[in-house]
Amino acid sequence: MNKLEKANDFILKHKEKVTNRPYYHFTPEIGWMNDPNGFSFYRGKYHLFYQYYPYDVVWNDMHWGHATTQDFIQWGYQPVALANDKIYDANGCFSGSAIEKEGKLYLMYTGHIDPNIGFDRDEAQVVERQCLAFSEDGICFEKYEHNPVIGEKELPNEYLICDFRDPKVTKVEDVYYCVLSVRNKQRRGEIILFKSSNLLDWTFHASIYQSKFEENTLLECPDLFRIGNKDVLIFSEMPCDPEFQKEVDHKTVYVVGEMDYQRGIFKAESKGLLDYGHTFYAPQSTEGKNGERLLIGWMHRWHQTAPPRDYGFNGMMSLPRRLALKDHQLIQQPVLDLNHYFHPSIVHEGTILNANERLEWTGEAGYLRLDIDPSDSKPFTVELHKSETKSTRIEVDVESGRIFMTSDYGNPGQINLEDCFAAEDENLTLEFFIDLHSVELFVNAGEKVASFAAYDRDKGSQVSILGKGQTVFRRIKWAEFKPIKARSAEHE
Ligand code: FRU
Repeated sequence: MNKLEKANDFILKHKEKVTNRPYYHFTPEIGWMNDPNGFSFYRGKYHLFYQYYPYDVVWNDMHWGHATTQDFIQWGYQPVALANDKIYDANGCFSGSAIEKEGKLYLMYTGHIDPNIGFDRDEAQVVERQCLAFSEDGICFEKYEHNPVIGEKELPNEYLICDFRDPKVTKVEDVYYCVLSVRNKQRRGEIILFKSSNLLDWTFHASIYQSKFEENTLLECPDLFRIGNKDVLIFSEMPCDPEFQKEVDHKTVYVVGEMDYQRGIFKAESKGLLDYGHTFYAPQSTEGKNGERLLIGWMHRWHQTAPPRDYGFNGMMSLPRRLALKDHQLIQQPVLDLNHYFHPSIVHEGTILNANERLEWTGEAGYLRLDIDPSDSKPFTVELHKSETKSTRIEVDVESGRIFMTSDYGNPGQINLEDCFAAEDENLTLEFFIDLHSVELFVNAGEKVASFAAYDRDKGSQVSILGKGQTVFRRIKWAEFKPIKARSAEHE
């Protein structure tokens, strides 16, 4: 059996052991998952590949898992697409992207080599080069015989080949461009651009974004795309030198500006946070079937806050989000068919909650939407996954426009959202997507988003809204997720 067959065989034999899957968020069939890869719409379906290690619930030799969907709720698992079975990707097929060319689906990924994996990293021995694989049917992939396609020869001298990864390919006016994450010789992150006329032969084009020296960050998983008349560059910031001992915060950032592809210049105009939570990382976008820009990210939990081993999986994807720009602000709206999958069971119109008044009901997985009149409202608290003693709490301070999220689950620290709304706003909308292990909050139709993930087994299942002064709710809507045999429909 080759490595790919071995992975698929292992999944088939052991997948029934997986328990405690979320209701409607994507998880791997079994084992460990991190970044979304190769997110694309190809031959009438969305394809999502992902960093994958089927054999255990911890990160290890990276394969590419694969699933397809029409609606992001029902997923069909596909055979593992790539295994690390070549000399040039011996220690992992790291993150990358997909693009269609002449009817075939091409994957571009990073071949990772680190002979000391599991021990201290010896930088001198780590090599990351860019590779291709292609498929006639979008299911079985063949690695390109002349891999790697971008390596030492193509990478200018001022960069380190040990951190050179995450190719995201796009086509602009008949030219292929690829943004990549790299570490420069000052040991800081940059985003560089390569170009090609045929996807196979690549040349260095430009450095389009540099982190500041004192920020000590690598800029992983870059993505560059156009929305309306602006270009948006996104990346995930990972703290690097000097080594951070404490629990580090990984951030996902978007920069709005103008990209001049011919000259290789990105003029940054403004910067924002993609997600205010501490458990969202490495998002990737694609053009959706109607030309819209869709984004999906990894909801991560490492180390002591990982799921219990007996769950048999580790890692979830966020809900996909449709992106738009309002001035220079990125607007993100969840993409899923609410009417089809969520069953409205509670609706209150024109409710006033006074201090210590509480609305409470049972709801483990569902959609909560609050429409508030901010002109006349005091702070209030939403409690989710509430038990006798524990909950995830969202404190909404309507007057100061701030929202704080804390939880007794998963040791998340406090999530702070500032400037969520202004006193003169006529309506404040909060939408919560609640699942067994996560909460995603969309403020004012996606002006700000915060996601939160925790795998604790002792979570409660109550939803509660507690008044602290007087809050005027124009509408409170709760829709429970309709259990379905998720992920079985397309299963092959
Ligand atoms: C981001 C990342 C990528 C890399 C991959 C390896 O989470 O570090 O930069 O390609 O994960 O699994």
